[in-house]
Amino acid sequence: MLDEQIAAFPFVNGRLFEEPLPLASFTREMRERLLDCCRLDWGAISPAIFGALFQSIMDERARRNLGAHYTSEENILKLIKPLFLDELWEEFGRIRGNRNRLFDFHQRLRRMNFLDPACGCGNFLVIAYRELRKLELEIVRASRALADAHTEMLWDTNLHQEVSIDVDQFYGIEIEEFPAQIAQVALWLADHQMNTRVSEEFGLYFARIPLKSKPHITCGNALHFDWNDVLPAQRCSYVLGNPPFVGSKMMSDAQRADMAQVFVDLNGCGTLDYVSCWYWLAAHYMKGTSTRAALVSTNSITQGEQPGILWSWLLGQGIKIAFAHRTFQWSNEARGVAAVHCVIVGFGYTEPLKRTIFEYDDLRGDPHAVAAHNISPYLVDAPGRVSAQSARGRSATCQRSESATCRSTTAI
Ligand SMILES: C[S@@+](CC[C@H](N)C(=O)[O-])C[C@H]1O[C@@H](n2cnc3c(N)ncnc32)[C@H](O)[C@@H]1O
Repeated sequence: MLDEQIAAFPFVNGRLFEEPLPLASFTREMRERLLDCCRLDWGAISPAIFGALFQSIMDERARRNLGAHYTSEENILKLIKPLFLDELWEEFGRIRGNRNRLFDFHQRLRRMNFLDPACGCGNFLVIAYRELRKLELEIVRASRALADAHTEMLWDTNLHQEVSIDVDQFYGIEIEEFPAQIAQVALWLADHQMNTRVSEEFGLYFARIPLKSKPHITCGNALHFDWNDVLPAQRCSYVLGNPPFVGSKMMSDAQRADMAQVFVDLNGCGTLDYVSCWYWLAAHYMKGTSTRAALVSTNSITQGEQPGILWSWLLGQGIKIAFAHRTFQWSNEARGVAAVHCVIVGFGYTEPLKRTIFEYDDLRGDPHAVAAHNISPYLVDAPGRVSAQSARGRSATCQRSESATCRSTTAI
């Protein structure tokens, strides 16, 4: 039984410090560097920095093999804004004067769930969570502005009900143990930062410790199991992320075997980039739901032969492209930046309310948005057809038993 005073001491828990840590063996330089880091105020630093740290310490070969390149905040916003954030803010703008509608809107946000099936250190989940909490803060502000005298008296006691969006709405799958652990902690840190913001805003200490709700990060190969086991598709609002950059010529034997397992009987899968597995599985996962997805990818899946193979199947399933960032130059602040050109494709089965193509005059610059009637797999405003020539005549079918035949025939 704990002493009363000690029992009253706030603790974090969440099984965060469950395992005993051995004492670290430091050189003088390491110790001094650590002390320098401790002198810095980390309070306002985005937990997304873990992605950069992790990428920087990773051995170059392992990084290439796993396609582990973290996504900068700027690029994450390019994806989450058109996927869900812009339309949520627009809706908020329309209903902010109506208390009942604000209440329903807030409840809906609390029911949303997000899945990143290659989450790394959780950058997408962290930024999506932070942005959702910022929106929630505005909802609480707007609701309070509309409150009557009786409700005002309950404000201090109700803050924990008023702020309800939580890390348990965020799901990730990551093959590597270390980043998977970091993703969980990063979401808790983002939670802490947003709680501090709530405290400042309402002049009342707001914390969620001991940690009771936790993010759902599964460590495993996303191509080896059904994503419904992580989050049933019916409950998933958005699939998002940046699956690994591995061209067909660079794949390891294990990745070729993954491709063979995912693309059973798909003609020409030997030319596809590893990332296409995530498109395929996302399309299977979302079937029959209104879930929407957006993935960052190497632009090769929208050029040359690949659209004919991958997209003819996706379009045949009923997938529609709602928005796309055309080719831009990949960059982030970490060492060992991937020298690739990327695209972002937003897609789903439901008819999009509007379609937008983001075009780049300068591959390293900012895009401009252009409204489109339709978005083809080549990411232009054109009917959703793929070139018959590129879809024809592929013989390298990926069979489970023939993974050796699943080899690249084109360079990326
Ligand atoms: C391009 S990184 C993106 C990481 C993070 N989402 C971000 O944007 O910062 C791709 C991530 O996928 C992970 N990965 C690679 N193959 C995977 C697989 N088969 N299943 C699950 N994760 C995988 C890598 O370890 C890496 O963390």
